[in-house]
Amino acid sequence: MRRTLLLLAGIGILAVLLIPATGGASTGVAAQTAGGDTGELIARGKALYLQACASCHGPDPNGASQYPSTVPSLKDVGGAAAVDWAVRTGRMPWKSTVGPAIARGRSRFDAEDTQALDAYVGSAVGDAQLPQVDPAQGDIARGRQAYAQACSACHGMNGAGSALGGANIAPTLLDVKPLDVAEAIKIGPGQMPPGGGIPSYTPDDAQSIATVNDIAAYVQSLQTTPYNRGGLPIGGKGPVPEGFVAWIIGLGALVLVVRWLGGRT
Ligand code: HEC
Ligand code: HEC
Repeated sequence: MRRTLLLLAGIGILAVLLIPATGGASTGVAAQTAGGDTGELIARGKALYLQACASCHGPDPNGASQYPSTVPSLKDVGGAAAVDWAVRTGRMPWKSTVGPAIARGRSRFDAEDTQALDAYVGSAVGDAQLPQVDPAQGDIARGRQAYAQACSACHGMNGAGSALGGANIAPTLLDVKPLDVAEAIKIGPGQMPPGGGIPSYTPDDAQSIATVNDIAAYVQSLQTTPYNRGGLPIGGKGPVPEGFVAWIIGLGALVLVVRWLGGRT
């Protein structure tokens, strides 16, 4: 009885944690908060940085890292947007001095502490701007086209992701928020190119912002209406596993037919 209750409570907590926060349309400058003073926010960010990041990235975000061959200096990775993305998606603080840190996890920081880290590192490296995004302003059909050109080679047309060789994967986009899309495009984490392959992307340019909104709208649409060209989706894992299924089922059927024909004589 108690175990069942505990289990139910656990499931309840998990469900709450898994419900995505609403309102993807978050935009703006990391260093601005509703009530807080920017100086205070930066001071708090600095304290958090020294505790949680400096051991690998160095005491000054704008200086050399402690392990220059494997840990990047935060001056070259995309400013506040990179910190915001890496911390919100639970990738940082990392547990090792060697990457890649690809898997998403639960963030170790709440929204305010994340904002403080963004503001501190952003101001230290001279880029405190988070990219703008609002999928409600985007167009899914245009987004599908732009995504097909820029993103699908790595993340798959259905957003399921794919292996890129070595330890690198292009992760699934079926659980990302619009802000993740805009930040990843701005910073180009890991093997992803900055701009995500969007032709002549620049973060502040109106045309680029419109394209990011379109792509964010398309990615969001994949999360409610899976991309499917017809036939069985087979988990939507891409051509290799799908081909594998075809081989097993197709060949299996062939073998049965051959045996049946052979058995008749
Ligand atoms: C134990 C070492 C370690 C700690 C602690 C650590 N990092 Fe990192 N960080 C790394 C490594 C290694 C990489 C390179 C990861 C990769 O190649 O995927 C990295 C990469 C990054 C990147 C670039 C991400 C990208 O893919 O472009 C950012 C931003 C970052 N760290 C921020 C932080 C912040 C902020 C903290 C503190 C909250 C932190 N890190 C703590 C080791 C660490
Ligand atoms: C060359 C391959 C490549 C291309 C092209 C590419 N990506 Fe990526 N993308 C990656 C890789 C690799 C990562 C993981 C990087 C890491 O974790 O360090 C990634 C990460 C992401 C993330 C973060 C996912 C998460 O779990 O937080 C998003 C969102 C994303 N990409 C969206 C896009 C969009 C949208 C486009 C097109 C505009 C695009 N990518 C183009 C390879 C690519």
